Amino acid sequence: MEILVDIKNLSKKYKDAPRPAVNDISFIIEKGSVFGLLGPNGAGKTTLISMLCGLFSQNEGTISINGKTHQSNSKECKQMIGVVPQEIALYPKLTAWENLMFLGHMYGIKTSELKERVTKNLSILGLHENTHQKIITYSGGMKRRVNLIAGLLHNPQLLILDEPTVGVDVQSKQAIIEYLKNLNTELGMTILYTSHHLEEAEDFCSHIAIIDDGKLITQGKTKQLISENDCKSIEEVYLKITGSKFRDK
Ligand SMILES: Nc1ncnc2c1ncn2[C@@H]1O[C@H](COP(=O)(O)OP(=O)(O)OP(=O)(O)O)[C@@H](O)[C@H]1O
Ligand SMILES: [Mg+2]
Repeated sequence: MEILVDIKNLSKKYKDAPRPAVNDISFIIEKGSVFGLLGPNGAGKTTLISMLCGLFSQNEGTISINGKTHQSNSKECKQMIGVVPQEIALYPKLTAWENLMFLGHMYGIKTSELKERVTKNLSILGLHENTHQKIITYSGGMKRRVNLIAGLLHNPQLLILDEPTVGVDVQSKQAIIEYLKNLNTELGMTILYTSHHLEEAEDFCSHIAIIDDGKLITQGKTKQLISENDCKSIEEVYLKITGSKFRDK
């Protein structure tokens, strides 16, 4: 087992907030795994992954990615990580092609290589015919799929996705999950994803961590978590451990 991400005693308290959004969390992410970070609204998922992406720094604790930290190896860390944010981060008046070519050039990918990757990814995600349409004309599910491609054009070792399947129909949801599964099995890309959907996470993730109110409640291999707790599903594990339902359901 090789460790890709090592998070130790991580805490973050926003200015003027009554309590920490992330409170003394530690876990590791193995290379090649699909790691699900689950928890209800306000649990601290986005705060935690924002620190992992280097968007802002923690108050306490350390994050190391392949032994490197954002504080001392900012450029290397950025190259290793791909981020698909919770909000759509595309220019609405540009086409999918223009958006992706622009972002790819920012990553420093050669034009010929970039054209190939953009064409291939749009086609895998069923957007070939919409390549030269403006994003503003896309449906929510189509935007999500382009948003996804935008995060991985530079072939990151670690792909971080913040609720990639929220607000999309069943077809888009399935296309997104299948696509991610392929990236994991075929390219060995390590994936960290946050979600409220316990069933989807159970099917998709090799490892799961559940956080609530800034704290880590439980973590482990998906199957092991279920059997150790003598449960039939991750949802049952969650209910058994917290004794309460997800607040957003
Ligand atoms: N920029 C901010 N300033 C102050 N408080 C914040 C900020 N961002 C988040 N919070 C607070 O920190 C806590 C954790 O929020 P966070 O967005 O990390 O949760 P989340 O698990 O991603 O929730 P969701 O499922 O709704 O996306 C919440 O109490 C939230 O109100
Ligand atoms: Mg969030």
